Amino acid sequence: MRKKVIVLSFILAVIVYGVLFTYVFAVSPAIKEESINKWLNKELSKEPKYQEKEVCSECHIEVYKKLIENYHSSLECEVCHGVGNKHAVYRTKESIRVDNSRDSCLICHKSIPGRTAIPTVGEDHHVGVKCIVCHEAHG
Ligand code: HEC
Ligand code: HEC
Ligand code: HEC
Ligand code: HEC
Repeated sequence: MRKKVIVLSFILAVIVYGVLFTYVFAVSPAIKEESINKWLNKELSKEPKYQEKEVCSECHIEVYKKLIENYHSSLECEVCHGVGNKHAVYRTKESIRVDNSRDSCLICHKSIPGRTAIPTVGEDHHVGVKCIVCHEAHG
């Protein structure tokens, strides 16, 4: 009797696992090629929002040169300044974000468990003083 229960629950587990596996990891029968194409076309029709830093360099060559020669060379301008495509057209202060707060740096540099790829500091690192008083954002 006990053996039967074990065998039955094993079979049940295999069935449940099989069904879940098909739906989660393989293609669910509910997803049709038609709807995939519809989704793809929708995504592809969206206008790009972000620019590469080479676009920014056309008008901000000094900042660009400084950035790529220093410790922030791997960053795009927009990780700190936000979406820039409108600004590249309008060229106004209002169309771009400038955030010089401590939080804007700590978002990447605050020491949190597991963050080992970039140099980090604690929130108590010269607390109360803006980071850009001592460090340069563009390197
Ligand atoms: C076609 C030229 C042009 C391009 C391309 C351009 N900018 Fe600008 N940017 C300007 C001008 C002009 C100003 C000065 C606006 C003013 O002082 O009124 C400016 C100002 C700025 C400022 C300072 C805003 C402030 O409040 O002082 C930042 C930051 C900035 N741009 C970032 C960027 C980034 C990031 C990119 C790339 C996504 C970019 N710019 C692309 C022309 C450009
Ligand atoms: C690590 C974040 C960061 C990155 C990356 C970054 N900036 Fe900035 N940027 C700042 C901060 C913070 C300020 C404000 C500095 C201040 O108040 O002294 C600033 C100021 C500016 C200004 C106005 C004052 C100035 O220094 O001329 C311009 C223009 C600018 N950035 C353009 C750019 C461009 C172009 C890029 C990419 C090539 C870029 N920034 C990349 C954080 C960044
Ligand atoms: C999008 C993430 C990001 C943001 C935001 C950011 N940084 Fe960085 N920072 C990095 C990376 C990545 C490096 C390079 C690490 C390396 O290659 O060694 C770096 C390096 C540095 C270094 C060099 C440290 C060393 O020991 O070499 C300083 C200083 C620094 N950043 C200060 C700042 C300041 C100040 C701000 C805010 C204006 C800021 N960062 C915002 C990602 C960021
Ligand atoms: C009063 C000046 C001052 C202020 C403000 C300041 N720093 Fe620093 N920072 C330093 C000095 C000096 C060092 C090098 C000695 C050390 O490691 O303490 C340093 C080191 C660093 C390093 C490298 C740490 C490492 O292990 O290599 C990073 C990253 C950094 N600071 C980020 C920041 C950020 C982000 C802020 C704002 C939240 C900030 N700093 C505010 C002076 C300052």
